[in-house]
Amino acid sequence: MKIYRFKELDSTNTFLKNLEIKNNYDVAIADKQTLGRGRSGNKWSSEIGGAYFSFLLKENPNISKEEYSRLPLVVGYSLLKTFEKLEGLDFKFKWTNDIYVLDKKLSGILVEKREDFYIIGIGINLNNSITEEFREKGISLKEITNKDYNKEELIFNVIEDFKNNLNYYFSGSWYEILNYLNSKNYLFGKNIIIDLRNKKEEGIGQTISKKGEFFVEIKGEIRSFSIGEIHIKGF
Ligand code: BTN
Repeated sequence: MKIYRFKELDSTNTFLKNLEIKNNYDVAIADKQTLGRGRSGNKWSSEIGGAYFSFLLKENPNISKEEYSRLPLVVGYSLLKTFEKLEGLDFKFKWTNDIYVLDKKLSGILVEKREDFYIIGIGINLNNSITEEFREKGISLKEITNKDYNKEELIFNVIEDFKNNLNYYFSGSWYEILNYLNSKNYLFGKNIIIDLRNKKEEGIGQTISKKGEFFVEIKGEIRSFSIGEIHIKGF
């Protein structure tokens, strides 16, 4: 395991993806990213003070693809748990893998894959103040609690907790994880728009299914979605 630290970098995910010699749990941390990436080609604003990091997870050939398909949910679960240890706030989970607090986004996760490595990238609005552009949608922990956090300590706690929660998941605890995520389900009962690649659907957010998909009520019918970005109506 290696730790790569940068004052400034395009993206910690891109860096690990392109790394020639990869090791399990190599970590890249950047104080600032110039091309921070979110899901669906979105930009992730990466101002000084936030925690921007990625780490590698080597695929285990004995574990099924189906089990790995829920990895983003397991990362989200783990991140929730780490935040709950840090502050007694009502953190929520927004399927597929964002953490919300006070109706605003605190943290986002981007899971990618290259060869037999998953690249798990996490952005946390920690000590940064949210820029004008994102103020309506995002919030940082410091803006809520007025505290300054030790960034590296939090990053290594996130990774340590993830290792433990991944073992918990692989040892057969998916339903426990799922129940917890559903108890923290930010989208439950909300009017949402599902932004699929070529069309948009409107409905009411329901629960996360056993497969890790999201149930949405559309015109009285329950449908499940595995892809697509979910937007809350009016946002
Ligand atoms: C999202 O909300 O869509 C996911 C955001 C993920 C941002 C993190 S910051 C560290 C890592 N490097 C990136 O370019 N993206 C992830």
